[in-house]
Amino acid sequence: MGKDILYIISSPRKGGNSDLLADQFIKGAEESGNTVDKLYLVDKNMGYCRGCMECVKNGECIIDDDVSKILDRMIASDVIVLSTPVYFFSMNSIMKTLIDRTITRYDEITNKEFYYIVTASIEDEKYLKNTFRPLRAFTDCLPGSIPKDKIAATGITEKGAVLNSPVYDEIYEIGKKV
Ligand SMILES: Cc1cc2nc3c(=O)[nH]c(=O)nc-3n(C[C@H](O)[C@H](O)[C@H](O)COP(=O)(O)O)c2cc1C
Repeated sequence: MGKDILYIISSPRKGGNSDLLADQFIKGAEESGNTVDKLYLVDKNMGYCRGCMECVKNGECIIDDDVSKILDRMIASDVIVLSTPVYFFSMNSIMKTLIDRTITRYDEITNKEFYYIVTASIEDEKYLKNTFRPLRAFTDCLPGSIPKDKIAATGITEKGAVLNSPVYDEIYEIGKKV
């Protein structure tokens, strides 16, 4: 039976490099019999964690927005893809906003396989350790998480530049093997 995959994109640039990579991964994954939901965080109403700890006391977040539905979807999936553009050598703030909000129910996001996908202008992947590290630190907080591939599409700045990157074909193969 195919896996249920949630592909979370934090790039606000629709049709941009993350988006194009997502479509390739999804094409491969669907051809192999998996189902994939593509989630654009930029379209969601998502407030910042207030750090009030009400969720720790009462089990519910005080903020009424789209995050509770996103968490339901994360909890239901077999595989979660975290895709972020590199902003100042970190994940972007949209992805971090979601990660912080998982505090309400992060202990229910159990036994998921994780893929980590980043896009960046810089050529050399060695500068992206500080982007991957906090993504991995997050998933290490989730019970039973299974880290899978880390994919960096580097040397790409303009919208669509990833079409000329070898990663564009590689990610299709990775999607096929999920
Ligand atoms: C606010 C901002 C900060 C950025 N900071 C970096 C950076 O620190 N290192 C880097 O290599 N690229 C940086 N970039 C370039 C993007 O990572 C790059 O254009 C990427 O291809 C965007 O992916 P997307 O099309 O999926 O949004 C930055 C872009 C923006 C808009």
